[in-house]
Amino acid sequence: MAERVRLGVNIDHVATVRNARGGVHPDPVRAAEQALAAGADGITAHLREDRRHITDRDIEALSVLCAEAGRPLNLEMAVTDEMLAIALRHRPHAACLVPERREEVTTEGGLAVAGHEARISPVASALSTAGIRVSLFIEPTPEQVDAAHAVGAQVVEFHTGRYCHLSGDDRAVEFERLQAAATRAVGLGLEVHAGHGLDYQTAADMMAIAEVRELNIGHFLIGEAVFVGLPTAIHRMRAAMDAAT
Ligand code: PXP
Repeated sequence: MAERVRLGVNIDHVATVRNARGGVHPDPVRAAEQALAAGADGITAHLREDRRHITDRDIEALSVLCAEAGRPLNLEMAVTDEMLAIALRHRPHAACLVPERREEVTTEGGLAVAGHEARISPVASALSTAGIRVSLFIEPTPEQVDAAHAVGAQVVEFHTGRYCHLSGDDRAVEFERLQAAATRAVGLGLEVHAGHGLDYQTAADMMAIAEVRELNIGHFLIGEAVFVGLPTAIHRMRAAMDAAT
């Protein structure tokens, strides 16, 4: 039997709320601790160049927490020298390279790897050499999948934002695009993850793509936590994923 699909919980927006008042509450590290206790398979955090939510101190504390818990930390980062140095210092389990600036984004929102191989390849290589798994957050297109493979990524995370926003036939077409890209990625030896905009229903939908090994979910879970608490939101997400598997 295939291993169950992992659930990575992104705690960025706990830091967004904390930073709205400039204090220490709510603490994203406490949220990460709760998420792991509730069954999250790993923690995802995005250290943005402008530090609008997660801070350098959060990454330090999350690294310690995940190491102690023996669970993976997935550091989302822009392709910059500064972020590379931070990743090499903390050595998270994985680094997911994401776009932060307009010029790094494809029309729909993933990282433009195709056409930018010369810039991304050395960063991917430095991360891999340090034992950090390299994931690229891309649109589900053949060009981006092939480029991700060419620059030496081990993982592609497909941007599901478009799927989540569409409905009806348009959504069905986008699903086929995700499925085709997942098949292509696995054919090249890449592991497939998915994330962005997922809720209970769309996360369950992703379970129909057998190649998907991990979902990374933040905004919806943190929003739900306001109403039902974070552990319950995570339990419900896990149950939705398992019921659809
Ligand atoms: N995966 C990646 C690479 C992301 O950058 C994000 C945050 O935008 C997510 C997953 C989670 O997206 P959301 O917060 O919409 O669940």
